[in-house]
Order: sequence, then structure tokens, then C-alpha cells
Amino acid sequence: MIRRLLRASPRRWPRPTAPRILVPSMTTSPDVTSIQDFTGQVAIVTGAARGLGLAVAMRLHERGAAVAVNVRDAERANAAARAIGERAFAVPGDVSDDGMPQEIARRALDRFGRIDVLVNNAALPLTTRFEALTAAEWRRAIEVNLTAPFLLMQAVLPAMKAQQYGRIVNISSSAGRMVSTLGGAHYTTSKTGLLGLTRAAAKELGCYGVTVNAVCPGMIDTELTRETAPGELLERLAGGYPIPRLGTAREVADLICFAASTSAGYITGASLDINGGDLMM
Ligand SMILES: NC(=O)c1ccc[n+]([C@@H]2O[C@H](COP(=O)([O-])OP(=O)(O)OC[C@H]3O[C@@H](n4cnc5c(N)ncnc54)[C@H](OP(=O)(O)O)[C@@H]3O)[C@@H](O)[C@H]2O)c1
Repeated sequence: MIRRLLRASPRRWPRPTAPRILVPSMTTSPDVTSIQDFTGQVAIVTGAARGLGLAVAMRLHERGAAVAVNVRDAERANAAARAIGERAFAVPGDVSDDGMPQEIARRALDRFGRIDVLVNNAALPLTTRFEALTAAEWRRAIEVNLTAPFLLMQAVLPAMKAQQYGRIVNISSSAGRMVSTLGGAHYTTSKTGLLGLTRAAAKELGCYGVTVNAVCPGMIDTELTRETAPGELLERLAGGYPIPRLGTAREVADLICFAASTSAGYITGASLDINGGDLMM
């Protein structure tokens, strides 16, 4: 029956030209057997001194990855790398500085010889209200939250392309899917742009064995969240979610690990929500 259908309408299934179709066993992905296992893989995590960045760097390391730990300040970067473990390595620097994305990729490659995973986590969570927002603050938010992830993706691409394997995970937000509860217009705009960037890159890079996805957390219990709003307000907000609590950094880290794993090989261009059901309300 299927053969007859194929014969009847040959033009509907255009013949792919190599190397557009990658069969998983044909790629040079590291030989891992479970999503828990990142042994032999190398990950870069930006903004990894605390919160979600630190949680995902720790989780990837626990699961066997070598991790290049980006933090703006060198001392904090070294402290975070030491806390994460022996396969962690500090790559300090402001991701929005000229040449820094390339420098981070180069240092990871020099040290570990490959780059399998990029987690674009660093961001400025700015809350300035619309009418008070200056052009300078707007540009800074776009530089750090959107342009830097783009340049980092470009910077790791040659290594991933050479390997015919890579996983890029951009940390967006429910703000990118709808609008930020606490952040300003620049924050919402940058996180929305990151979803467009994710899809556009996914469309062009899949043929190299590179997937690009976004993770969109809702209200997560991190230092940042606690600094941004009083506990009472957080409790009130989270109390209205279908799962009536804040999310944990560990829960988000586990979703990022899944998107970064070999098991997620057929997921690309996706925006993966993790928000206790808040977004559908
Ligand atoms: N927590 C939430 O509820 C939530 C919800 C949705 C999305 N998110 C997203 O999740 C990510 C992590 O959030 P978080 O709660 O862990 O907040 P966070 O603690 O503020 O983490 C962001 C990290 O990015 C770093 N960073 C900022 N600008 C940088 C730059 N130019 N270069 C390098 N690093 C820079 C910060 O470093 P410094 O310590 O040096 O400032 C900070 O450690 C962010 O992308 C955020 O937008 C969080």
C-alpha cells in the first residue's frame, strides 16, 4: 500500500541531498546510552555563578560532562568552577564584550577539544517600567540577552559542525511566550527575540546535527526571584498556578539537561515551557 502511494505521487517526497538527512548512528555524537549520561561531552554554561546557571552546570557535571563555567567576574568564576567539581573550568568574562563569545568558545575548545552543549543562560533581568526606560538600558538588555546568545551560537558552531553534533539551549522565559510578570519591556522583548533566534537557527543548523531549543521558565525559586519580589507577593502569585508553588532550579536544570541530551535528537526549534501551568491560565 505504502509503495503504491509512493509510486503514485513521487513529487510529494523530494529526494534529500546529503548531508541534509542525518541518521543518529551516522553522526559523530558521543557514545552515550542514557539522558543521564554526558560522559565525554563538553558543555558551556553562561551566567553560571548562581541560580539556574549554577544548577544546570552542576547537573551536567554530575552526569559526566566537562563544563566551561562562564561568570562575569574571574574570582566568582573560579569559585563556581571549584564548587562544581574537577571537570569544571572557569571561562570568565562579560558575554556582551567584543570578542568574548569567540574567546569563551576558543578557551573551551583549547581545554577540552570539543563543544557539545551550549546553554545561553546569562541575562539581565531588568525591571524598569516602560515610561522610565532609556535607550541605553534598552540597548544593554538586547546586547546581553539576545545579541550575546547569537554570537555565542555562531562561535560554537564550527566545532559542532565539525563534529556533526551539537545541542544549543537558549534560556528564554514565560516572558518570551507572553509578557513578563516582573521584568520590563526590554526584558520581555529580548526573551521573545530569543525564541525567534532559536527557531531561525534551528531551521538552518539541523543539517549539521545541531539542535537549537529554548527553555521557557515561569516563576522559579532562585536568588534573583527572591531579590526581585517580596516572599508574600511570590506566594500569592504562585498560589494561583495549577501547580500552586514556585518551580525549583533543579526542575529547570533537568529540563535543560533533557534538551541538551542525545535523547532530544529529534526536537529542534521548540520552546519548552516549565511554569506549573501558569501560561495556560
Ligand atoms: N528565575 C526565574 O524565575 C526565571 C524565569 C524565567 C527566565 N529566567 C531566566 O533564567 C536565567 C537565569 O535566571 P536566574 O534566576 O538564575 O537569574 P540570575 O541569578 O540573575 O542569573 C543570570 C546570570 O547571568 C549573569 N549575567 C548577567 N549579565 C551577564 C553578562 N553580561 N555576562 C555574563 N554573565 C552575565 C549574572 O551574573 P552576575 O552574577 O555577574 O550578575 C547572573 O549570574 C536568565 O536567563 C533568566 O532570564 C529566570
